[in-house]
Amino acid sequence: MKGIVLAGGLGTRLHPLTKVTNKHLLPVYDKPMIYYPIQTLVDAGIDDILIVTGGSNSGDFLTLLGNGKKFGLEHLNYTYQEGHGGIAVALGLARYFAGNEPICVILGDNIVEKSIRPAVDAFRKQGTGAKILLKEVPDPERFGVAELDGDRVVRIIEKPKNPPSRYAVTGIYMYDSRVFDFVDDLKPSGRGELEITDVNNAYIDSGELTWEKLDGYWTDAGTFQSLFRANQLAAGDRPTE
Ligand code: G1P
Repeated sequence: MKGIVLAGGLGTRLHPLTKVTNKHLLPVYDKPMIYYPIQTLVDAGIDDILIVTGGSNSGDFLTLLGNGKKFGLEHLNYTYQEGHGGIAVALGLARYFAGNEPICVILGDNIVEKSIRPAVDAFRKQGTGAKILLKEVPDPERFGVAELDGDRVVRIIEKPKNPPSRYAVTGIYMYDSRVFDFVDDLKPSGRGELEITDVNNAYIDSGELTWEKLDGYWTDAGTFQSLFRANQLAAGDRPTE
């Protein structure tokens, strides 16, 4: 399985912190943010990794990460996103890297406590379709939220005013190579972006989406509050859940 870290975007919710740098280069405790998702993939046994980034600071990723030696990698792949347009647009740029292999995609601002290897291994066995990881959160309206019918995810709603559950869809997604056909068919959402949630809903419609609960803490880091939380968690200040 190949790994893809999505590290583009404008990070506008973090202005002025992101006016002169990319969000994923900001510090989270003692490391740049992007170290965490890369380590998550490496810990899951994924060593062929693509970083998708963009904007005027993209060269800094090369300076910072090089060939990935720090993570025990022999090589890192990079691609450049012109402009912005949502997570699914960034993912579309990974098509040539992915070829026909299954992929594990992680948003560059997602920080997890425990290894996702069991879920990745389960998806290796699954072979086709998609798998998402869900996490119960106190503020689901900030995320994509899963509507469940018993054990089945029947729909994912992006940032719902009235969340159908407390299960946030985390920014870790596993897909077969059909994902790029689904990306091709997307239409821009209300916020003018191609949404990863619509990709996941396409897999639900085709009856091929599985899910697991993510173990341990999880946070994104795209707002001042969540970035602060990410720093606390990375520093070892454990949540009381
Ligand atoms: C994105 C996704 C959302 C997901 C979240 C996880 O939100 O659209 O479904 O729950 O990442 O971090 P965004 O950070 O673009 O608001």
